[in-house]
Amino acid sequence: MNEELFESISRRKSCQKFREEELRAEDMDGLVDFLSELEAPEEEIDWNFDTLPYLDMMRICSTAPAIRAPVYLVLRAERKNFSLQNCGYLGELAVLWLTSRGVATCWQGSAQVDPNEDYRGSLPYVTCIAMGYGEDAFRAPGEQPDRKEAEKVIFNRTPEYTPILEAARIAPSSFNRQPWAFVSDDRQRLHLFRKKSVLANPVTEFHQCVDCGAALAHLEVAAKAKGYKPEFKRLKPEPSFKRGLTYQCSLQL
Ligand SMILES: Cc1cc2nc3c(=O)[nH]c(=O)nc-3n(C[C@H](O)[C@H](O)[C@H](O)COP(=O)(O)O)c2cc1C
Repeated sequence: MNEELFESISRRKSCQKFREEELRAEDMDGLVDFLSELEAPEEEIDWNFDTLPYLDMMRICSTAPAIRAPVYLVLRAERKNFSLQNCGYLGELAVLWLTSRGVATCWQGSAQVDPNEDYRGSLPYVTCIAMGYGEDAFRAPGEQPDRKEAEKVIFNRTPEYTPILEAARIAPSSFNRQPWAFVSDDRQRLHLFRKKSVLANPVTEFHQCVDCGAALAHLEVAAKAKGYKPEFKRLKPEPSFKRGLTYQCSLQL
């Protein structure tokens, strides 16, 4: 399974137009089984998910998803430090799994759920992902995503880590802001830092914490594909790198 997820990293892209076609039952059931088995990097934070058809999604939204899709994966989590990052990680693993099945996706950070309209007793809404089938929904072999150059976001002197860090560099992010820096050290660890947003806008910071989780998913999948047994760690004391970067998480290879 990890090999398929790894192949999805270069194939995945955001689908802009979905067909009005229900998800195949085996894709929906498979997604539920896949997500149910996952553990987030911060294991003690409660989270869960729903799959909501378009009309059910519209019913709970205060701001509708920008992209109409037959179904949405909704991620919820209790509000604690790193719960947004957890949801980014879980959502992006789901995206990679769906990509491996030929299901098109697009993260929908702009969709907002009204807590008063949300299902009673559910955990706080975090974000959602549009899912379905679409035209031009995947990258062709060799097609390069539009991303910052490696020199701007990867700080690494160990060549064997390069493919792992490259996989993280091409992770999706809200408005393609890529709010991250990836730093390796000499103890087989890869550190993820988040760039503080210039105006410290809380909405932007919210999405950028989710983005960091998506990058962690790519790091882990790529590390496993390269034969490592990676483990997430939040180090104390926290590593520091450059001013303006917030430490998020490390991956021990
Ligand atoms: C947390 C998150 C939120 C996003 N929100 C939206 C959104 O609201 N609408 C949208 O069209 N794309 C959204 N995207 C998709 C990004 O715009 C997209 O990943 C980025 O431009 C890179 O393009 P690619 O996914 O095709 O590689 C979001 C991505 C992430 C990770």
